[in-house]
Amino acid sequence: MQITKKNGQLHVPDNPLIPFIEGDGIGKEITPFVQQIVDAAVEKSYGGKRKISWKEVLAGEKAFNKVGTWLPNETLEAFRNSLVGIKGPLTTPVGEGIRSLNVALRQELDLYVCLRPVRWFKGVATPLLHPEKVRVTIFRENTEDIYAGIEWAAGTPEVNKVLTFLKEEMGVAKIRFPETTSIGVKPVSVEGTERLVRAAILYALEHKLPSVTLVHKGNIMKFTEGGFKKWGYALAEREFPDQTFTEHRFNSIKAEKGLDAAVEAYNQALETGKVFIKDVIADAFLQSTLLKPEEYAVVATLNLNGDYISDQLAAMVGGIGIAPGANINYNSGHAIFEATHGTAPDIVGKEKANPCSMLLSAVMMLEYMGWNDAGRLITNSLEKLFEGGYATPDLARFMENGKSLSTTQFCEKVIENL
Ligand code: NAI
Repeated sequence: MQITKKNGQLHVPDNPLIPFIEGDGIGKEITPFVQQIVDAAVEKSYGGKRKISWKEVLAGEKAFNKVGTWLPNETLEAFRNSLVGIKGPLTTPVGEGIRSLNVALRQELDLYVCLRPVRWFKGVATPLLHPEKVRVTIFRENTEDIYAGIEWAAGTPEVNKVLTFLKEEMGVAKIRFPETTSIGVKPVSVEGTERLVRAAILYALEHKLPSVTLVHKGNIMKFTEGGFKKWGYALAEREFPDQTFTEHRFNSIKAEKGLDAAVEAYNQALETGKVFIKDVIADAFLQSTLLKPEEYAVVATLNLNGDYISDQLAAMVGGIGIAPGANINYNSGHAIFEATHGTAPDIVGKEKANPCSMLLSAVMMLEYMGWNDAGRLITNSLEKLFEGGYATPDLARFMENGKSLSTTQFCEKVIENL
């Protein structure tokens, strides 16, 4: 049966149909194990009452070899109809005019949130003294910003047209080397910002998290990133007046009634369990996460900042290779959970592939479906294994007492420890 979304509610039947893309390269090695582990955890949690019906859909090299196209329409249709799906890594086809498959899926389904939870697993090697303090969920805007793909190459007639327009009609005189300049456009909208920030606040409320931080470079890019900050605060104050307290509001009270009154209002808000909405400039944020990571719970940010931030935070907990991710449209309910690494052609067939990025993405999927118990079983099992030093070679070689296991051995141990 299909998962559906009606009146803002996701309805998950006991036997949901979930399309999956096996993935290229190591995808073939990890995806079947991820499914086995998920099935075992679901069986153990719900005693046969719930079970996922997996439906394979094609994409990437496997699709190209079987049906002659990289992303068949049936695959898009399956994700469109089933709402929730999961994918392994895909080879990016090389050649002019072929879109990245990941980008195509995101655009087709308007998956506007790139969700990246970051946490440390005890036992995993990390450069931080206190990695346990890092527990951050990143909401990265996924459809706008300088990543929208609107750009023209230096020296082309197109860029010359844009340059002429900027110079002659917009009075722009600041382009330093116009003869050799490429130009990119950075669209950031009210709607795009609002739906992202709304999703981040709802997530913080649902998970009882203390804060949402808007990360931006509005000090320099006043209308785009500055707009993101302004519209984010305005949305919190308009749509969640009783559930949030904003730094923006703190500053207005301070200006009107003094610091003591502002601090009192802040303390009162915290006592009543309101989510604190604050903002920080992106470069200061990157420093601050190293020094005081415990100050951040949910982060809402623009596309490019989000790209850097996701990798820095994952690296801080030694988890860049196992970081999970999802691309979600919280309005329609569409969500694709995915391994964040590539196809790892250098280790294909060597039993060295780490399944954890995709497995933890599957845990996110179970949580999204409300099947938290099954998700927790998998996470607990991983916690036990990492703490005991058991991991695939990519992690084990950096761990104290690391015990290197093959992909198969590791996955069998995950199931044993559920
Ligand atoms: P990659 O992530 O595939 O590999 C980078 C390094 O990390 C390699 O040394 C690899 O062995 C290692 N690695 C990656 N995943 C691993 C895992 N699960 N376990 C153990 N080691 C792992 O990135 P690369 O080499 O730049 O890209 C290879 C292909 O993957 C390209 O076609 C690229 O376009 C595609 N790609 C696809 C992505 C996706 O579908 N989401 C994301 C990134 C790359």
